Amino acid sequence: MSSTKQTVPFNGTKAQEEQLIKVIAELKSEPGALMPIMQKAQEIYGYLPIEVQTIISDETGIPLEKIYGVATFYSQFALNPKGRYQISVCLGTACYVKGSGDVYSKLMELLGIVGGECTPDGKFSLDACRCVGACGLAPVMMINDDVYGRLTVDDIAGILAKYQ
Ligand code: FES
Repeated sequence: MSSTKQTVPFNGTKAQEEQLIKVIAELKSEPGALMPIMQKAQEIYGYLPIEVQTIISDETGIPLEKIYGVATFYSQFALNPKGRYQISVCLGTACYVKGSGDVYSKLMELLGIVGGECTPDGKFSLDACRCVGACGLAPVMMINDDVYGRLTVDDIAGILAKYQ
């Protein structure tokens, strides 16, 4: 399950907005400018919240619905920032057959978010990923650079507590 809901309040700066408006002015007359503009916008802000999509719409004249459609269709775009602690649960085959789907569900339950979201305090973001090459440890999740293997759903609360 991936989210199209924005869970973190927007706090973009004036400087970021000026940088984005400049980029749009440079690119907007080129054919097919929308994707490069959105990619640049995501570089500037780190993600593509609706407030940023609205600036793009206002500056290009492209309807917001179209921009939103592109932002939610392509997995390269994120509506939410990454958390201070980025959790990735491997849903590759080896992990999945050993129960990583249950681990992923448990994380959603404990964090109160779904995949693709970030907790409103900016602390944890949750995503699914493909095989991370540690199948012998299945099921596996990563929190930033820490790898946790042979997980059960009962381990999750204790692991999250380490990051409080
Ligand atoms: S399938 Fe999860 S580490 Fe390979």
